[in-house]
Amino acid sequence: ALVSMRELLDHAALNGYGIPAFNVNNLEQVQAVMSAADEVGAPVILQASAGARKYAGEPFIKHLILAAIEAYPHIPLVMHQDHGQSPDVCQGAINLGFSSVMMDGSLMSDGKTIASYDYNVEVTRKVVAMAHAVGVTVEGELGCLGSLETMKGDKEDGHGTEATMTREQMLTDPEQAADFVKRTQLDALAIAIGTSHGAYKFTRKPTGDILAIDRVMAINKRIPNTHLVMHGSSSVPQESLAIINQFGGKMRETYGVPVEEIQKAIKFGVRKINIDTDIRLAMTGAVRKYMFENPEKFDARDWLKPAREAAKALCKQRYLEFGCEGQG
Ligand code: G3H
Ligand code: 13P
Ligand code: NA
Ligand code: ZN
Repeated sequence: ALVSMRELLDHAALNGYGIPAFNVNNLEQVQAVMSAADEVGAPVILQASAGARKYAGEPFIKHLILAAIEAYPHIPLVMHQDHGQSPDVCQGAINLGFSSVMMDGSLMSDGKTIASYDYNVEVTRKVVAMAHAVGVTVEGELGCLGSLETMKGDKEDGHGTEATMTREQMLTDPEQAADFVKRTQLDALAIAIGTSHGAYKFTRKPTGDILAIDRVMAINKRIPNTHLVMHGSSSVPQESLAIINQFGGKMRETYGVPVEEIQKAIKFGVRKINIDTDIRLAMTGAVRKYMFENPEKFDARDWLKPAREAAKALCKQRYLEFGCEGQG
């Protein structure tokens, strides 16, 4: 059944677990998340980016998610819009039937320019007013995702700013977070702690200087009742990179957010963990391997099946690691 994100995150907070929010763009990804959740009894957050809506088309994204609800009526499911760049985009998602929206006011509506704090407060408040009026949950973002190694935004993946930033801009300030929550009344707050979108997050296994889990603790101390969200939370498994490269891919050495760091963050109030890249890597590795080993095959179902299986295995693993088993 379709539920608000507020309901799922409140339950997660009460029971001390975190929920992976998986980005979906097509049928196989939706099926992978749903069958994984079904097998472990997990609640589901399916999120669609602007890119997903453009790729699939709005009617398809909407009806793929509605199909998931029809196929798995017993699973509580949130239909979330990822990275809304303006109140208009959020209104559009609400009109489409989404039960949760993200107003990302950390950047201007061009998705590139770093926004002022006042702008962020204003657009987020506006979205909270219209969303709460119809029972829709709002996620906001304070602080800019970016690499504390290069001091640059995460433009590499086609997202966000490529501007050079200060450490202060890339780490959410606990005091400002408290003011932001008070002034916007949002439901969930995405924070910046040194993660970035895409596969190339860290050039080495991250340590506390470049992945600031202690900042999560400080924010949680200041606003213990706010659900925190971590973006850019793929772990970029080395095995996935190895399979991709073994079967003709060309990915550079890179590291993601270790699962044990996410588990620590969950202890400090992180309730929603955004994952897209890990599914991309899993599916790409599976397709490359299948194509290489079965060069005579040409039925799309033949190679989409292992891709879907690999995505499902990844989702199942994250559900278990974040404590979702039996919580759905
Ligand atoms: O926001 C980041 C997610 O990974 C979505 O990516 O905009 O390429 O669909 P996308
Ligand atoms: P990853 O690129 O680390 O999977 O992050 C996804 C994300 O934050 C979507 O909003
Ligand atoms: Na989001
Ligand atoms: Zn994100």
